[in-house]
Amino acid sequence: MTILSKYSALKQAYDALRESGVDPARLKFDTVLSPTEGVLNDRRTILMGTNNYLGLTFDETCVDAAVEATRSQGTGTTGSRMANGTYKGHEALEEALAAFYGRKHCMVFSTGYQANLGVLSTLVGRGDHLMLDADSHASIYDGSRLGHAEVIRFRHNSPDDLYKRLRRLEGAPGDRLIVVEGIYSMLGDTAPLKEFAAVKRETGAFLLVDEAHSLGVLGETGRGLAEAAGVEADVDFIVGTFSKSLGSVGGFCVADSEDFDIMRIVCRPYMFTASLPPGVVASTITALEKLQAQPHLRHTLMRNAHRLYDGLQRLGFETGPEPNPIVAVAMPDQETAVVFWKMLIEAGLYLNLAVPPATPNNVRLLRASISAAHTTDQIDAALDAFAEVGRQLDFLPTGRRRAGGAL
Ligand SMILES: Cc1ncc(COP(=O)(O)O)c(C=O)c1O
Repeated sequence: MTILSKYSALKQAYDALRESGVDPARLKFDTVLSPTEGVLNDRRTILMGTNNYLGLTFDETCVDAAVEATRSQGTGTTGSRMANGTYKGHEALEEALAAFYGRKHCMVFSTGYQANLGVLSTLVGRGDHLMLDADSHASIYDGSRLGHAEVIRFRHNSPDDLYKRLRRLEGAPGDRLIVVEGIYSMLGDTAPLKEFAAVKRETGAFLLVDEAHSLGVLGETGRGLAEAAGVEADVDFIVGTFSKSLGSVGGFCVADSEDFDIMRIVCRPYMFTASLPPGVVASTITALEKLQAQPHLRHTLMRNAHRLYDGLQRLGFETGPEPNPIVAVAMPDQETAVVFWKMLIEAGLYLNLAVPPATPNNVRLLRASISAAHTTDQIDAALDAFAEVGRQLDFLPTGRRRAGGAL
């Protein structure tokens, strides 16, 4: 018996996975060559599971900005903004994000995960009601646990269910905060935001949208689903991350509430952790400029997403419900998912093996994320790999076995 023996059932399942030669938690790249290519087990591999939507991780101006800021200001701030102060870059980044969203305030966090921890545990407290989509990201659930509001889950993407649950609260004291995501990270589906906004208006709730996977992806200017759905005025808080389309690390929340800055002295995941290093801040500011100056990146991204999504559907695979840069392929069971994933890697294609509890409804998925930097040749090579592995496993495209309408 050790202190970790409580995880023995989980360990057994994990050991069985490792014995089959697969260890997704310890997959190690020999090197990463570009936003879309790396070397894995001595083989050049197409990277199609990295959320690098705009392909900016190797952008020369972003890299130069990071190098210059690191040389001039050092590798880290070695503490929180409360203790060690705000650097000019932190303020510039917050101003740039507020301006981009046309909001009065912005707070930058050290990760998107911490942004959700901080915002959700602070905006609502004891006596308030936090309305969470059932398929919310782990950071949203963890943020809800860190705070003291009553947590009420509603059916994924169901404005009707949300409405019903809010109606039940009629007359009860406390604020109501609805939390949904722009693009959901596992299946790539979007929230019906117009309908959620209508529920929010009718019930007097506040609305927060986590645009982690939709910033730089959706909307006329890349602001995300709220912009695409034309409901920005109804959204009170937008949370996002720098770790996807902006190619770095960090998170943020923008808002218009007059007293938003009080968060800086009450929000523990902001106050009690080191602030972002100057190099990260500088590359993020530059990436945000690129996102705005180069709308063609977004257009290429969507073209690429369609090419993969349509191609997989043509091959007969069961995909997520919408052609977005997250393209999920349903697998019938864990064993097929693991073997399929491993064979794709051996064929030179890396994407994510997604299994419960990370997935909704216990589904097993191969999850691809497309980049504007992918070439059509790379996408076609990925489709060829899917077709070939499907044939070898007698899974598809013969049509004999499918995931059986899991998504
Ligand atoms: C919806 C959502 N919110 C927040 C996060 C956390 O972002 P970060 O990687 O910046 O911690 C993620 C990460 O995958 C996410 O999918």
